[in-house]
Amino acid sequence: MRICIQVENLSKTFVLHHQNSMHLPVLDNASLRVHRGECVVLHGHSGSGKSTLLRSLYANYLPDSGHIHIRHHDQWIDLVAAAPRQIIDIRRQTIGWVSQFLRAIPRVPAIELVMQPLLDLGVPRPECADRAAALLTHLNVPRSLWKLAPATFSGGEQQRVNIARGFIVDYPILLLDEPTASLDAANSAAVVELITAAKARGAGIVGIFHDAAVREQVADRIHTMSPPPGAAHDNH
Ligand SMILES: Nc1ncnc2c1ncn2[C@@H]1O[C@H](COP(=O)(O)OP(=O)(O)O)[C@@H](O)[C@H]1O
Ligand SMILES: [Mg+2]
Repeated sequence: MRICIQVENLSKTFVLHHQNSMHLPVLDNASLRVHRGECVVLHGHSGSGKSTLLRSLYANYLPDSGHIHIRHHDQWIDLVAAAPRQIIDIRRQTIGWVSQFLRAIPRVPAIELVMQPLLDLGVPRPECADRAAALLTHLNVPRSLWKLAPATFSGGEQQRVNIARGFIVDYPILLLDEPTASLDAANSAAVVELITAAKARGAGIVGIFHDAAVREQVADRIHTMSPPPGAAHDNH
């Protein structure tokens, strides 16, 4: 199986400027390899750096040292050294991101939010609309809501719109930060189906899932976060 993400010796220490520049080491020489078609689940206690690692894989956080090699089309790009334009390209075409929260944009209807990433790739509008409708239906978002802006939706409805948006492009890599956090069992199962289908078409997935049942269904491998030396004593 081909590799799509290769993380090497990643380290990250947050410096808390409002607390006497306290140093909080979060990642210490973390390494991780993800193949196409597999889902690697990050595991560890709250505060162990799961979201920090995931955000680094989306270039939201810049690590202090190490490399994040991403397979982008037919080349390898190190996100740690990538130019902003390359990062934009990678986010548009190679890496999809689904967080726990939807960033609702006032007055933009749910279906438009879902379609946007596919429209941005130049796919004709009717095809984008069909795909968005299929995803919203699969995720049980009532048709009566599609033309409304999600600002007033319930947490679970917003999250399902968010998931539809994250899955509308067949990204080669998907990063999922607790996508099922506020969903009931039936809707979690619908998300598990999307993840399974993404793996089957060859996507490499890195995810965080609190729900043990979901984790067991999607994980091919568990990556246990290892605490930096002395991290637990850093507050004293
Ligand atoms: N932007 C940030 N600035 C400062 N500290 C942060 C930031 N993001 C996360 N942290 C700290 O880093 C540690 C790891 O956080 P996080 O990666 O969110 O853990 P997890 O997702 O495993 O719960 C926590 O102690 C958290 O407070
Ligand atoms: Mg987290």
